[in-house]
This record gives sequence, C-alpha cells and structure tokens, in this order.
Amino acid sequence: MRIISGPASQELGRKVAELSRSSLTEVEPNRFLDGESHIRFKGSVENEEAFIIQTTGPPQEDNLVQLLLMIDNARDMGAKSVTAVIPYFAYVRQDKRFRPGEAFSAKTVVRLIQACGATEIITINSHSPTALGQLGFPIEDLSAVGLVAQYFKDKGILNVFSLSLGKKGLNMAEQANNVLGGGYGCISTQRDVITGNVTVEEKSLPVDNRNVVIFDDIISSGRTMAKAVALVKRQNPKSVYAACIHPLFKEDAKEMILRNGADGIVGTDTVTSNVATVSVAPLIAEAITRD
Ligand code: R5P
Repeated sequence: MRIISGPASQELGRKVAELSRSSLTEVEPNRFLDGESHIRFKGSVENEEAFIIQTTGPPQEDNLVQLLLMIDNARDMGAKSVTAVIPYFAYVRQDKRFRPGEAFSAKTVVRLIQACGATEIITINSHSPTALGQLGFPIEDLSAVGLVAQYFKDKGILNVFSLSLGKKGLNMAEQANNVLGGGYGCISTQRDVITGNVTVEEKSLPVDNRNVVIFDDIISSGRTMAKAVALVKRQNPKSVYAACIHPLFKEDAKEMILRNGADGIVGTDTVTSNVATVSVAPLIAEAITRD
C-alpha cells in the first residue's frame, strides 16, 4: 500500500502514512509559466495499491486538476489500483439540476475521476452521499462527526445539546449525541437557489443554560452558521460552539460567526484553515487499512 500525498493535502497525507504504516510518495508541485499545473511523483508507485490524498477545497479548479493528473500518472506509472481519497469533495453540492440548464457538476467530477483510472473514491461528510451513491461508481463516505464531538468531550465541555442544520442535519446531531449525550435536535435551513440567501427556521430549543454545539458539514460564507448561532444565543444557552467538518471560510465567515455570539469554532483538517483543530487522519487511516 502506498500513500501519495497530493500538493493540497501534504501534511494530512504524511499523517495518514504514519498512522497506517504505509510508504509515502511525495509529489512535487510546479507551474508552467502560463499558470498550468505540473506535478511529478518523487518515487515509484509500480505494482502498488495507491491511495492519492488530495483535497479539492479552494482553489478548487487547481486542486481538482492536480488530482486528475495524479490519478492518470499513477496508472501510467504502473499502480495496481488507485483510490482517490478526497477529504473535501468540491463540486458535489450541485447534486442535481436545481434549475433547467444547470450543469450537474457532481456527476461531471465523478466521471472525470473515473475516466482517469481511479478504482474508488473515499471522501468525508460529502454534501449528499445518497446522490453520489447513485452515480454508479464506488464511493465511500466517511463521517468525521464522532471525532469532532470527541474533541468537545476531551475539552471537558459536558451537558451538551447537539444541534445540526439543514435537511440531512439530524443525522449529524445524532452521531454527535452518541459521543456527547445530552440530547440533540435539528434546525431547518432554506437557501434561495437564485440569490443564495439563507433563512434559518425560528424554533424554540431546550438549550436554556446548556452548552450547545451546532454542527454543519460545511462553513463557507458563514451565513448559515452565524444565523443559527444567533438563534441559539437568543435562548439563553450557557455557551454555543460552531462545529464543522469542512471550514472553507470565504469572506469574513469566522468573524461573522464570532460576532453573532459563538464561544468558539472548531473544524477539521480536510481543508487548510486556522480552525483545523481536529485531524481526520485516523479516520482515513482506519478506512484504508480496514480490509
Ligand atoms: C448546505 O447545504 C450546507 O450543509 C451548509 O449549510 C452550507 O454549505 C453553508 O454555507 P454558508 O456557510 O455559505 O452559509
């Protein structure tokens, strides 16, 4: 088994190689003068089961093209099998045509990865595992919610009410509650497909004088989380924390969430950020050594 640590996930790739006791091939990233990506493997992958670890967080296009180059290169260099380990999987939020004429980008990126020669995809808390599962390609969707919940437990934050956001949210809160206890719930959110504006359901929650952790898969602009924090804050909690798996943090997301009353923000290292407190390396290492 060989880990190939892609340019966007070098540190994570190193940690996974160490935890899974696998050999590591590092990748030398470069650019042609006109800005195009160039990659070179610093070692052989011949006859190996290769696991390419490359997130596709911002800059998404660069990281995705590097991933495709690495998959194809691993095949050309004689790898026996190639698994694309994509901690944050860009483009899969568009998991159908919401409006006529829109590109179905989740399907497009999976087809590209397949065409380059990957045998499987492993990802973490993808936006829509069910939709991805219908694309006819083997995709394993891991969940890092337990690891994030464990972080709060280890910090001694007890009597926690776990709250999650959006349609598939209850699932995350339930997983967190398995670690934290204390009960769980969900707030619905609605996004206008044209303006992108988010509305958060006004809901009375059992959070009076309790510690609350709000879980979402992604924090991007931070608007959804900021509104959820403000809603909880109006209901007299002891503390409220914002937790996510993929801290993409565009614009002033972090500041906005803190301004709305969050006592802290916790995310994982699926993408690079300054709130990547929890590492998903053990989760990936366990998945790739399981069989
Ligand atoms: C949406 O369905 C996701 O689960 C997140 O709630 C969303 O991506 C967060 O986006 P933003 O931070 O821009 O509000």
